Amino acid sequence: MKLQILFLMMIFLGVPQMSSAAIKTEDFDSIKLYTLKNNSGMTVKITNYGAIITSIIVPDKNGKAGDIALGYNRVEDYINAVDKPYFGAIVGRYGNRIAKGQFEIDGETYSLAVNNGENHLHGGTIGFDKVVWNAEPMEGNGWQALKLTYLAKDMEEGYPGNLEVSVTYTLNNKNELKVDYLATTDKATHINLTQHTYFNLKGEGEGTILDHELMLNASKYTPTDSGAIPTGELAEVKETPFDFTKAKTIGKEIDEDHQQLIYGLGYDHNWVIDREDEEGLTLAARVHEPTTGRVMEIETTEPGIQFYCGNFLDGRLKGKSGKPYVKRGGFCLETQHYPDSPNQPNFPSTLLKPGEEYETTTVFRFSTKK
Ligand code: GLA
Repeated sequence: MKLQILFLMMIFLGVPQMSSAAIKTEDFDSIKLYTLKNNSGMTVKITNYGAIITSIIVPDKNGKAGDIALGYNRVEDYINAVDKPYFGAIVGRYGNRIAKGQFEIDGETYSLAVNNGENHLHGGTIGFDKVVWNAEPMEGNGWQALKLTYLAKDMEEGYPGNLEVSVTYTLNNKNELKVDYLATTDKATHINLTQHTYFNLKGEGEGTILDHELMLNASKYTPTDSGAIPTGELAEVKETPFDFTKAKTIGKEIDEDHQQLIYGLGYDHNWVIDREDEEGLTLAARVHEPTTGRVMEIETTEPGIQFYCGNFLDGRLKGKSGKPYVKRGGFCLETQHYPDSPNQPNFPSTLLKPGEEYETTTVFRFSTKK
């Protein structure tokens, strides 16, 4: 099985008008699209711009292939995206929010971009989703992988420390897509990397995800203030719309009169994964879409998972097949440390010191159920 590197999928006629992402011409020229394929019907496409997963093709219960990841056909559309949905990207240096764009390490205050109300979101103006990564395809017996590396310089986006990051996507014949994250730093810094694919198990552009059945292995979540910053409380989900411990449809209680649903415009919160140990891979979520029979399970070493159900999509963006991405037309399940951890001493720490290794793994497993 040969790894297909599709150099020509993205053809650029000069450097297009770019918004925030100031990509140099030589970097732009090195943007490519890579394909991982297995012998069980799965194909995953990844670009080294933002380490973005541009498509995930999986069979349904009748063996019919479909693309279940929201995204665009052209890299320009990722670069120029007006309302920045972070389709498919690796988000960092700190995925999710940091209150007021500030944190302190050893008495020193660091200031980051304030790009989400009065808070910092997803690594700043040019986060890891908007840079060009180095890419190295790899393969072995029964798997294909793409290793992406990036050096985030000391004080890039306001964060201290030269941070060497690698993200490896591995697809095997069991329809598992594994994401391994590694990083080291030369100064103490905060790091929280995640994967921001929007899924619609019916197929991208096929309406809303409200009928998908979701199970979250979490008996607590982190309620927030109106700006989506955790209050610090780990609240029980029991008897609230946030209880997904038994599978229910995403839409079932989404419109209930609950303060947290009002703040989030629906679900856009961090759940605290119920774990038996602190470190191992643990089941975090299972999603089933009844009409296609597609099932996705997520296992992670992370303590939390952000479930965001596409509340900000509004039908203006059109995806790969030209169909509009309607409100709640995709959901993200972002494995992570809790939002605002740098300012919340009671949350698991996101501090990475020189000499330490940041290492996390998340597995997306696909199957079907008749
Ligand atoms: C995350 C956030 C959401 C939103 C999306 C991107 O999931 O929690 O509030 O910002 O990213 O639109």
